[in-house]
Amino acid sequence: MNVSIPTLLSDTEITEIDAEVAHLPTPAAAAIDALKIVQEHRGWVSDGSIKAIAKHLNMSAAELDGIATFYSMIFRKPVGNKVILLCDSISCWIKDCDGLQKKITQQLGIKAGETTADNEYTLIPVTCLGACDKAPVLMVGDDLHENIDEKYLQALFSNRPVEDE
Ligand code: FES
Repeated sequence: MNVSIPTLLSDTEITEIDAEVAHLPTPAAAAIDALKIVQEHRGWVSDGSIKAIAKHLNMSAAELDGIATFYSMIFRKPVGNKVILLCDSISCWIKDCDGLQKKITQQLGIKAGETTADNEYTLIPVTCLGACDKAPVLMVGDDLHENIDEKYLQALFSNRPVEDE
């Protein structure tokens, strides 16, 4: 099945982006906000969306793509219904976020950047989530989970079958 990806900005997206632009010195200064707005509406930011946003903000698509690629929270590929953001910065690394990532892979059958076959979860390692004193941490959708250990992970995804290693 071919799913068409909108390449034009919707009226709602334009209204929300323009509201950000209104209190910034240049349209391009709203680049990250505009990317977040489009992602909020579409789930991810396609190449077509990059072109449409860039045109609206009077900047080049390459420049905007560079910004989008720099921010790991901007998804440039389709993602599942819930995105698991696993922090891999220093405090979480010391608390074995690598081991947790392996457990997630074992439990959900997905590696970093992958989405479960039922399109429910996408796993994305990210830099510091700002809760270093509660490391290791991850987010599932908008929910922050702190002091994660194997038991916690098991409960968090308890509705999922454990995959063979
Ligand atoms: Fe993981 Fe800061 S290092 S939340």
